[in-house]
Amino acid sequence: MNPNDEVIAGARDRALERIAAAAVEADLEAVRVEVLGRKGLLAGVSKDFGKMAPEERARMGKLLNAVKQEVETALESRKAAFASAALAARLDSEWLDLTLPAPPPRRGSLHPVTLIQTEIEDLFISMGFTVLDGPEVETEEHNFDALNIPGDHPARDAQDTFWLTDGNLLRTHTSPVQVRGMRKLGPPLRMIAPGRVFRNEEVDASHEHTFYQLEGMMVDRDVSVAHLIFFMKTLLTSIFRREVTVRLRPGYFPFVEPGFELDIQCLICGGPGCPVCKQSGWVELLPCGLVNPNVLRMSGIDPEQWNGFAFGLGLTRLAMMRYAIDDIRLLLGGDLRFLNQF
Ligand code: PHE
Repeated sequence: MNPNDEVIAGARDRALERIAAAAVEADLEAVRVEVLGRKGLLAGVSKDFGKMAPEERARMGKLLNAVKQEVETALESRKAAFASAALAARLDSEWLDLTLPAPPPRRGSLHPVTLIQTEIEDLFISMGFTVLDGPEVETEEHNFDALNIPGDHPARDAQDTFWLTDGNLLRTHTSPVQVRGMRKLGPPLRMIAPGRVFRNEEVDASHEHTFYQLEGMMVDRDVSVAHLIFFMKTLLTSIFRREVTVRLRPGYFPFVEPGFELDIQCLICGGPGCPVCKQSGWVELLPCGLVNPNVLRMSGIDPEQWNGFAFGLGLTRLAMMRYAIDDIRLLLGGDLRFLNQF
């Protein structure tokens, strides 16, 4: 009997026993090194091969291979067991109850300024107007010069206008879209242009540095103040859903002549006076006028043949009146408790 038989049998039993007892995967590696490794229990046996008779060597070789095979198989299957136990534990801890009802998605809503804007767009589209868009970063020429606003006009003052370092500016009103509209489309022309405007103003309950206007312009033949009043009354009646009484006061804007401030009779008190109208019975809402011939000329329209009206509606102000919002900051604050009401 070759003493190596005993060595092999002992190594095999020890390996299988330790594999069975392994608590963690690292234990298996330790067994592999100890039994099958280069300096392991079985390594000594191969070293003796030289001293063995050929038949004995063949028998020993076979036996050795069979045991190595057996131990390796046991290692592999234990290793697989560890892996599947680990996977099961992980699946267990990450379990999701897919039948649990999800929280309902929160329904969004349109911002009050957007609501008013789209309503006015629909109204003017129904009367043959085109909706135009213009850039918020404007040239001095579009924002001022082409609107007949002279170089020394206080509106250009750094206090009101956000100037950019390249000489452009953040538009202070939507009126530059009049210029773009006239130059692009030519007469006859009916356009409105809603959008954001910027002024370097101190923020308080009724002022913001960023707010919304809606510009309107009609250029045609023989346009009169009567046309202007008709469209303005149609606009206001539709927005407030009732007949509104309007009045015109003279107002100065270099791009209209004559220029007006259009007031509406206070919708809160109906005339006698209240805090909203500051006891006057009237609320200033809408600057407007007949287009100054210089403005037409500067955009390539012959004032002998064409004339028109223009208005600049304060969309933010209108939204505040329509929804009785007493602080402009609510409209720009992004507070969902406020916005969810619309
Ligand atoms: N652009 C002017 C402003 O912002 C308003 C206006 C527009 C006045 C059109 C008359 C005609 O103050």
